[in-house]
This record gives sequence, C-alpha cells and structure tokens, in this order.
Amino acid sequence: MSEKVVLAFSGGLDTSVCVKLLEENYNSEVITACVDVGQPIEDIKRAEEVANILDVYKHVTIDAKDEFANDFISKGIKANASYEGYPLSTALARPLIAMKIIELAKKENAVAIAHGCTGKGNDQFRFESIIKSMSDFKIIAPVREMNLTRTEEQLYAEERGIPISPDSIFSIDENIWGRSIEGDLLEDPINIPPEEAYDWTSSIANAKDDEEIITIEFENGIPIAINDDKKPLIDLIKIANEIAGSHGIGRIDIIEDRIIGLKSREVYEVPGATLLLEAHKGLEQLVLSKSELSFLEGVSTIYADLVYSALWQEPLKEDLDALIDSMQKRVTGKVILKVFKGRIAVVGRESPFSLHDIDQISFEDKTNDQREIEGMIKHHGLQAAIYQKLMKK
Ligand code: ARG
Repeated sequence: MSEKVVLAFSGGLDTSVCVKLLEENYNSEVITACVDVGQPIEDIKRAEEVANILDVYKHVTIDAKDEFANDFISKGIKANASYEGYPLSTALARPLIAMKIIELAKKENAVAIAHGCTGKGNDQFRFESIIKSMSDFKIIAPVREMNLTRTEEQLYAEERGIPISPDSIFSIDENIWGRSIEGDLLEDPINIPPEEAYDWTSSIANAKDDEEIITIEFENGIPIAINDDKKPLIDLIKIANEIAGSHGIGRIDIIEDRIIGLKSREVYEVPGATLLLEAHKGLEQLVLSKSELSFLEGVSTIYADLVYSALWQEPLKEDLDALIDSMQKRVTGKVILKVFKGRIAVVGRESPFSLHDIDQISFEDKTNDQREIEGMIKHHGLQAAIYQKLMKK
C-alpha cells in the first residue's frame, strides 16, 4: 500500500525530482502543494503544469499572499529585520509555507510531509522546525536523504523525462518580499553577477533618469499608503517593488553565514523591502526616543538572527514581537523619500507622535533660558575631566 505524502512544490528542479523519487523510492502517492506567497503568476502556473506532466495524485495551489504580508512581512518591517544585509525574503516565507502544508496534510489524511531541500541550506531547518513543533508528521527529504548533487538531479530528471525549466541556470526563490538568486557561476564569490541574473531591478546605468519623490504613510509601524493611495500591504509591497526596481534600488550581493556554518555568496533583489525599511527607519527616528532607538538596533539584529536561523517559534521571538508592537504604536505618520539611480534618501517626515519639538529646537526660541544649560555643562563629562587631569600629573 502506498502512503499519501504532501510535497511542498515549486515546479523547480529539486521539487520535481522529488515527485519521482517519492513514488519510486518511498512508495508514495504524491500530493504536490504550491503555496502562493506572491511569486510570479507564471511560476504558480508552471508548478501546476509540471505537476500535471508528472501525473501526481493531486496538485493544490494555496493562496497565502495576504497572510504572508500581514502576519510575516509586517513583523519583518516593524523589526527592521535584516540578516547581514538581507531582508529575509525567503526566511520569512518558509514558516508560513510549512504551516500551510501541515494544514493540507491534515485535511488529506497524509502520513508524511516532504520537501526538496538539500542538506546544505537553511530552508530544511525552517520547514522542519515548524513541522516538528506543530505536528507529528513524518518528514521526508529525498534529495538530502539520497545525498544528491545538482548534476545528479539533472541527470535523473533527464532519464525520467522530468521537465526542467529552461529559463535560468540559477536556483531562484521568489516571493513578494524578494528574489534570491543562487548557484552556478555565482557560487564563486569572485564572479560578477551577470545582468541576466536580475529580473526585478534595473541596473544603475538603465535606471530612470529622473528622480522620484515618494510619500509612504505608516500606521503602527506598518505601511498603509504610498503617494496617498491607501491599499492592502500586499499591494503596497508590489508598488514599492516596481518604483524602487525601476530606479535600480535593492540589488544585494553578500557573503552570508548559513545556519550550518558555511559561508555562501548570495545575490538578492529586494527593491520594495529596501524602500519600505528605509522609510520605516526614517519615521522611527522621529518618534522613538534615543534610548529606544539604540535598544532597537540590538533587537533588530537578534530578531533577524532568529528568523534566519529557523527559530520563528522561539519564545524570545514572541517576547520581542510584544516589545516591538508596544513601541510601534507610535510609529505612525508620513515619510517622504527621494529615489534616484540606486539611491534612497529620506527627505521629509511627520507624525502626531513626533518627539521633535520645533519650538524648542529653534534658534529663535526664548522660552528656554539658554543660561540654564551652564549648570548642566559643568557636570557633563565630569569624570572625563577628572581623568585627564589625573593623567597629566
Ligand atoms: N540564502 C537565503 C536564505 O537562506 C535564500 C535561499 C533561497 N533559496 C534558493 N533556492 N535560491 O534565506
């Protein structure tokens, strides 16, 4: 008797190979599930087509776009989450994908959940930590378990007539928050990414020749409007991607430290994320106190580390969410940005919770008697002065 298995499926090489491996080597009846987290519609369609060609037991597309924006990306924005310069597009989506697959596996009375991750990356940790903490499903990772290389997968695909996407030589992962490009010549950190690696962003040379002014409005730390047009977060991210991408913003090329300790060269396109995070930080400067801001820097780093490292359900992350939410109650207002040739500048900001006191900062202000500061200066740096005098003796 074959066993029902739900496979997290993208229609790419790894997951397509997994369908046949599961059938042949694991005696499985495969349900392929493609979770829509805002990847291009062509990818969703392709997954459907490939599943069809592979003649799977059943294929399901699960729309999780709004949930991704409202419950995952929103947290990334509020936390200014960025790991080594990468705004965590793939990392934020994985827990949600795993949750959706669990739901489906329960509905379908499956016995196991499978994924196409190799034993080298981070995604195996992200999927499995959620599956383990939220269910008792058996986990199958055929590519890892059979220790396959990419070339071996390609050969196996050819032998079995598994369709391979002709579009790219790279391994690409896309969702509404960003596009990750890995593999092939990019594996060697000295190789310059070719222009074909990019899809969402113009090169600086081809970026628009006119600067653009953009207004972004936030409520409780979350974007609610761009250029006074109120829209659901998912739509605002799409708009931000288009605007920033056309100005050559959001290309990232970094050496990233993976969970398993390997350093890896990673290329990303994250135009919208770059724009929205810049705007968010610009507004925080206006409304949060000096102590809050410096404290938040550490919080952001720890938060990003947890998300990257597959610890979405770590209690510390929940604690930090509560802390961040409390601070974000005042991150409401407007930010004006100028974008031009790959650069973003915050050029204006306004908020009902602004801690900036225009009257007191003004050189024309007479309400505060300047002379009162003299007493404060006398004591400011007192220990430094004592120390310097002591050293001179
Ligand atoms: N390095 C990134 C991360 O771990 C992206 C991985 C994306 N996977 C891919 N097949 N391109 O979050």
